[in-house]
Amino acid sequence: KITASNGKKLQKKKEKIRMCGIIGIASNKFVSTNIINSLKKLEYRGYDSAGLATLDNNIIKEKKCSGRVDQLEKILFKSPASGNLGIGHVRWATHGIPNEVNAHPHSSEIVSVVHNGIIENSNELKIQLEKKGKKFKSQTDTEVITILLSDELKNKEPLDAVYDTLKKLKGSFALGIIFKNFNNIIIGARRGSPLAVGYSKNENYLGSDSYALKSMTNKISYLDDGDICVLTKDSVDFYDAKKNKVNKKVLILSDDKNVANKGDYKNFMSKEIFEQPITARNCINEYIDKSRDEINFYNFPIQPKSINKVVLIGCGTAYHSCLVAKYWFEEFTTLNVEADIASEFRYRNLKFNKDNLYLFVSQSGETADTSAALDLCKKNGVKTCSIVNVVESSIARNSDWVLPIHAGPEIGVASTKAFIGQMLLLYMLCLKIAALRNDIDSQDYQKKIKNLKKLPEILEECLRSEDKIQLVARDFLDSKGSMFLGRGCSFPIALEGALKLKELSYLHAEGYPAGEMKHGPLALIENGLPVIVISPNDKYFHKTISNMQEVIARGGKILLITDSNKNVISENVRFTINLPYIEKSLSPFFSTIPLQLLAYHVALLKKCDIDKPRNLAKSVTVE
Ligand code: AGP
Repeated sequence: KITASNGKKLQKKKEKIRMCGIIGIASNKFVSTNIINSLKKLEYRGYDSAGLATLDNNIIKEKKCSGRVDQLEKILFKSPASGNLGIGHVRWATHGIPNEVNAHPHSSEIVSVVHNGIIENSNELKIQLEKKGKKFKSQTDTEVITILLSDELKNKEPLDAVYDTLKKLKGSFALGIIFKNFNNIIIGARRGSPLAVGYSKNENYLGSDSYALKSMTNKISYLDDGDICVLTKDSVDFYDAKKNKVNKKVLILSDDKNVANKGDYKNFMSKEIFEQPITARNCINEYIDKSRDEINFYNFPIQPKSINKVVLIGCGTAYHSCLVAKYWFEEFTTLNVEADIASEFRYRNLKFNKDNLYLFVSQSGETADTSAALDLCKKNGVKTCSIVNVVESSIARNSDWVLPIHAGPEIGVASTKAFIGQMLLLYMLCLKIAALRNDIDSQDYQKKIKNLKKLPEILEECLRSEDKIQLVARDFLDSKGSMFLGRGCSFPIALEGALKLKELSYLHAEGYPAGEMKHGPLALIENGLPVIVISPNDKYFHKTISNMQEVIARGGKILLITDSNKNVISENVRFTINLPYIEKSLSPFFSTIPLQLLAYHVALLKKCDIDKPRNLAKSVTVE
């Protein structure tokens, strides 16, 4: 057990890694108001304490407090922090209790630092520095960075001083730093924790995620691990771990401000279907460290190793993403896993267990049944996590842990890009938990992440099945109904395809486990009935194909969706949509796309209201 030179028992390194929020702004005008507004957007990441530091005439003005950003705003009303350059932070305590002293930024005479992540060797460094007579005000690991950097700055330029400081640190960090004697630069650094840069006219930004930056810009770049950026109001320079200057791709985020703008699309649903490669890529950029093929999740509300069961809860399409994730959790982890419809879950006679993790999936974050199910879990004192598209929503606010899908506003009532985003988050979460529990080996983990990075381009390829789908759509116009069949994780996709067709074209459609047909539904099959069979190249392939033959024998007209290059010979397969294959576990993402397009084109032929189907609302905020 390490003790500080003053004999005090040092804080045991906290296992839990909390997510904090960072913002930095270099501008031609005062920055404190914009820093506050951005911190409010980041509060979903942590809000034990908040703070900012601005630089005004070479004076570091630091303001911080325990509690919410509103507290900090009150302090600034009384004593403003002027200056055109500054950094801000919302904290979820890791080292040291959430009070003002431990709030970020941590400043010395010449530098001020905000930090997200954990410095694993902070205790050892602290002892070394105390032996040199350094005094610490806080219990945080971040203050170690401040003191080390202040020493390095005595005889080095900021960039070199930062590099040499980072070499001494072990662990993860996203940093924002301002310098008393350099009143035009903010330096950002990333190792493990996400960090993004935003660009605007006479202003540039540093932020923990695109969400913090979206209200000020839609042009952003992501730092990769080891990168450092030097940001002024007019320029941003990036350097890699070896101090080589590097260029970063500038991504254009779907701009919430012109949400009401369909662009060249006829309706929002088609825009949102074709946006899916972009929204998937943005979500991957937010969570995956591409240089290390690592998934960045922090502030787990429960130690992954102590979880014994995961319960997934949602409604409609969100419930279907829960069902898909159930197969992934069964496949990649040793956890027990359940998926439940929120309107059923909330009335069950449930046995709650503190070692269970309850995951709530909701695009709007306002669905009444899902919200009520969350309240029930909160009342029973269990750990909750929400996977949402609207970060300020009530489900997000009431959860212990929020994982935004970063899909941008979804206007069409029929959920499309949010479904892909929900599955993407659940897939990454499942992989991360499996890795932290050593349920999957590191090679398999890294291979899955490498494959996942290809998702955006493969979704792009799947969208090219549209012309074939348009031809098939006609078969549905005069049919009595249709069946969607799948096994394994294709079964929830069958349910989702049927739901899309129902809610958009008002035609009867049924999703069913392919193996269940003999137990009754086969009676529905008659000559010409459209049956969509989802049969990717997985362990169920041959069984599903034989179910398909049973349907053909009774006159069903088949649309086969597969990614297998195995020849499925059958003259009665009306169409085969051959999708790209990367690996089995990713097939739900790809088989979803033609089903979205199918529902869309049938509804178009029937002249239904695509964005606002009859009887439906975008968010069901009542029971
Ligand atoms: C999906 O296309 C529907 N709009 C509906 O099933 C939706 O998924 C469901 O109401 C849940 O909404 P939420 O994701 O906002 O909670």
